[in-house]
Amino acid sequence: MAVDFKFGGPIEPELFYDREREVGFLIDRLSKIKSGVKHNYALVGPRRMGKSSILRFIELKLARVGIVPVFIDCEGREVAKQVELSLELLLSSWGNSILDAFFDRSGLADKIKVRLRDFIVGTKDKIISALSEVLGRLRALEVKAASSYLELRIEFEKTTSLRAPSPDELVKLLDDTLDLAEELGEETRRHFVLMLDEFQNVSKFRKPIDFLPVFRRHMQVQGRVAYLLTGSNIGMMELLLRRPFGGHIPVEWIGPFEREVAKNFMRERFEALGRDIEDEAIDEIVDFTGGHPAYLNWFGEQCCREVAAGRKIHLKLVLGLEEKIFERDGLMHVFEEELSRVSPKRGKMYSVFIEMAGHDLESPSDISKNVNRSTPSEVILYLRRLEQRGFVRREGRGRYRIVDEMLKRYIRKKIHST
Ligand SMILES: Nc1ncnc2c1ncn2[C@@H]1O[C@H](COP(=O)(O)OP(=O)(O)OP(=O)(O)O)[C@@H](O)[C@H]1O
Ligand SMILES: [Mg+2]
Repeated sequence: MAVDFKFGGPIEPELFYDREREVGFLIDRLSKIKSGVKHNYALVGPRRMGKSSILRFIELKLARVGIVPVFIDCEGREVAKQVELSLELLLSSWGNSILDAFFDRSGLADKIKVRLRDFIVGTKDKIISALSEVLGRLRALEVKAASSYLELRIEFEKTTSLRAPSPDELVKLLDDTLDLAEELGEETRRHFVLMLDEFQNVSKFRKPIDFLPVFRRHMQVQGRVAYLLTGSNIGMMELLLRRPFGGHIPVEWIGPFEREVAKNFMRERFEALGRDIEDEAIDEIVDFTGGHPAYLNWFGEQCCREVAAGRKIHLKLVLGLEEKIFERDGLMHVFEEELSRVSPKRGKMYSVFIEMAGHDLESPSDISKNVNRSTPSEVILYLRRLEQRGFVRREGRGRYRIVDEMLKRYIRKKIHST
């Protein structure tokens, strides 16, 4: 694939730019599992900052040093298109992803022929026959841990084809799934890194089993599996600081590209795409987006759409796009969705956020003057909640800042145009 701009969703490793410090550090720490030293990490950052893309990139690098990397989307975006993600479905996808990755990295994929990830939703018949097919082919290959896991899964799928699983059955499935990588590792003398994307999502699984304490118990005793958990800071930090983790998993923060990195990214990509661009236009894009990689890509894509290869991109075009990005044919839906997550009820907390953004306010007393019938101490309570959800950050001297500069601009434009 040729180098290009691409807005939205995790990007292919070919399109991946920089993040050298984060990637180098994580590879170094995670691959220590091979010498028996386990480091688990959490990768936390605001939405669309490139967390999943980093996982995809790290996946390749880990495979190169002989580790089996397993990517698991705990939000199950693929699954969720069809049905709501239940604990059972998460566990199926968890186990299937481990087996697929293991077959890939052990050169067995050609013999197994089935990609288990394709059999998570669908009729029980289809799922059972896919699992049985793999089990059949495995018999000749002698990987006991994989066979006994598959036997259990087939049994589970059969008994639950007409009724919901009992709590005991779920506990058994959970234990076996969480042990799978460790057991495969012990049997075949391999090491795994489990990359759990959107990990904060698992905290919703509390009944009939509380997922997190069980997960933590397994994680602690494993010697062949290291974990990399990622999530948007909304929810993720609360989860990591609370029991059962209690702050024991170190956090690597991920922010926007630094100024120089962002400029080089834009310059190099435009050049590779045959576009000439004014220096002022690059500066403008980088300033406006604050180096946020997703928005840099959006500007890149739009510029290339407007200006053919061999022609020049001027500042004027960029200024026009700055208007467009907040409109319906730009990214309005993205910002509206973000806003709806601030506070679905649109009560006082929402007003606090809107007033802050709209009038560039940072101190609780200034904000309280703008929000009807509110006191500074009440505003502080809301600000703390907004902070927990990752929308604002506390600066020195009791001042608060909005994290997403683009969302702030969007609100300001919205307020001042009505
Ligand atoms: N290293 C990178 N190089 C180039 N572009 C990047 C990079 N990282 C992220 N991007 C851009 O940001 C967009 C979002 O990336 P990604 O989906 O990995 O973010 P995320 O933090 O996982 O987002 P979400 O919160 O939606 O899960 C990509 O589509 C791409 O445009
Ligand atoms: Mg992501």
